[in-house]
This record gives sequence, structure tokens and C-alpha cells, in this order.
Amino acid sequence: MNSPLNSDSAHWDAVYQKHGNAAGLPAGVSWYRPHLERSLHWIEQLTAGDTAARIIDVGTGESTLADDLLARGYRALELLDLSATALAHLRARLEARFGGAACADVSWRAGDVTQLALPESGFDVWHDRAVLHFLTDPTQRAAYVAQAMRCVRPGGHLIIATFAPDGPPRCSQRDVMRYSEAELAALFAPGFEAVASEREIHTTPTGTQQAFQILIARRR
Ligand SMILES: C[S@@+](CC[C@H](N)C(=O)[O-])C[C@H]1O[C@@H](n2cnc3c(N)ncnc32)[C@H](O)[C@@H]1O
Repeated sequence: MNSPLNSDSAHWDAVYQKHGNAAGLPAGVSWYRPHLERSLHWIEQLTAGDTAARIIDVGTGESTLADDLLARGYRALELLDLSATALAHLRARLEARFGGAACADVSWRAGDVTQLALPESGFDVWHDRAVLHFLTDPTQRAAYVAQAMRCVRPGGHLIIATFAPDGPPRCSQRDVMRYSEAELAALFAPGFEAVASEREIHTTPTGTQQAFQILIARRR
């Protein structure tokens, strides 16, 4: 915890106190999926299966992405979230499931991704599912892009999933930004070059469908 938490950390802590726990999965939250299939597909593709790849999951929450990456042999994971509660639950779950040795190279960072001091060119892959779209303030968005520019090595990649234009306007009692394919690519240009994009329809645990836009971009 090397940065002040922003004012919304109490909100997210409360969400994970209510819905998460160290033993199980946060299956009560709308963004829950048993597996982040598209993210896993792209991470394996972009790293060409190199399990030494350095991967940051921005706003990891209690998602199963880290479980699935550890199960595939990836070890150099940076798990970052505004909520220290989510990180504590996730850490307990991963250590119980995989053992402390398998988690020895995992870094845990509680804080605001736009403010934390992250390693320069420290990552081969920057993954964000359903976090960027909460940044409704242009200054915050600019700080996010600058952070990604600084931290992804040249030739490294972003995988960003936000709500699409026909996705919901709010999530977790917060307004969100919705992005078209072109808008999401433009946000990260010219420092990142879009190499692929796709839509995903996420079905929430209560059966509602939500449209996501996914950008894959390469750091120039
Ligand atoms: C909708 S959840 C998505 C969680 C996870 N990525 C997933 O797909 O299951 C959004 C997450 O972003 C985190 N978050 C929100 N704003 C953040 C910020 N500025 N910096 C870091 N994390 C943030 C929240 O605590 C929450 O865990």
C-alpha cells in the first residue's frame, strides 16, 4: 500500500465485504464470471504461452483471472485494486488453492491505478476488465492512459474491456463511460496501436445481458 486510496475505496470495500469472502467467489456481483474466457484467450495469445510474462490485472477485485493464470503456470502477476478487502480475500483464496510458493512472485497493490507508483516498462500485458469505464473524469482518464504508457514495455499489450455503447449506463451504483470500438482505440492512440477488438455479451449472475467492448492494443 504505497499510495493513498481514493475516496471510492470505502464503497468497493463494502461491496466485497458483502459479496466476497476468502473461501469462495464473489458470485453475487453483476460482473462475476466463473472464468474470464476472452481475457485468458488474449493473454495466452499475446504472450505466446510464455509463462514468465509479467502481467498486471488492474482492478482485479476477486475475479478468477489470477486463479486461471496461476493454474496455467503464469507466476509474475501484479494484482492491483482500490479495495484492500478484495485483495485480502483474493490472496487468501489463491494461497489456499495454490500454496504460498506458487504465489511468491505475485505482487499485491492496494490503491488507485491512476495514482500508484508502478514500475516503468514493468509489464508485458496490462489487463483491465470493467475498471476504466468508472473513470468519468477526463483528468483521471488522462492519468490512466499516462500510467499505461509508462508501465507497459514497448511491444507489450493492453487488454481493456469496458461497457459498449449499448451496455448499461451505471454499475455498482456508479455512472460509467461507454465506449465504441473507435472511441476505445482513440483513447490510447497514438501511444498504443489497436491490433484487435471484439464485443462480448456478459450474462450477469441474475441473467441480465451486458454488452462489453474489448480492445487489444500494442505499445509502440
Ligand atoms: C466491476 S469490478 C471488476 C473486477 C474485476 N476486474 C472483474 O472483472 O471481476 C471493478 C473493480 O475495479 C476496482 N476499482 C475501481 N476504481 C479503481 C481505481 N481507480 N483503481 C484501482 N481499482 C479500481 C474496484 O475496487 C473493483 O474491484
